[in-house]
Amino acid sequence: MADATAEVLQANGKLLDAINSQNWAAYTDLCDPSLTCFEPEALGHVVSGMEFHHFYFKLAGSGRPKQSIMASPHVRIIGETAIVSYIRLTQRVESDGVPATFASEETRVWQKQNGAWKHVHFHRSIPTAS
Ligand code: GLY
Repeated sequence: MADATAEVLQANGKLLDAINSQNWAAYTDLCDPSLTCFEPEALGHVVSGMEFHHFYFKLAGSGRPKQSIMASPHVRIIGETAIVSYIRLTQRVESDGVPATFASEETRVWQKQNGAWKHVHFHRSIPTAS
C-alpha cells in the first residue's frame, strides 16, 4: 500500500510537470486514451478523450517559469485504483515579470494497467472563498 501511494504520487507529479512544460508525449504516456474530466475550461461538461487537452499543449508557451506542487495530497487506494486529492499550487511569472501563485482543487483517478499507473479521470475546480 505504501509503495502504491508513493508510485501514484510520483506519477501525479510527473503529470503536473508534463502539463506545465506542455510535454504532450509525457502527458499521453501517463494517460489512458479514454481519460474523462471536469475542468473549468470544459464549462461544466464532462470531456472524454485526449483531443480537448491536446489543444492547450499545442499553444505557444510563454517561456516563463511555471511549476506546480500538490499541497497536502490525500491518496486512497482501492484495489487497482487510486484517488489522489489535493490543492494544486501553481507558481508562475506573469508577463510583467511578477511571480504569482494560483490554487486549484484537483481530484485525479489512476488505474493500474499492465503494471503501470494510468490517469483515467480528473476533476479540477477553482476554490471558492470561505
Ligand atoms: N488539463 C489537463 C489536465 O489537467 O490534466
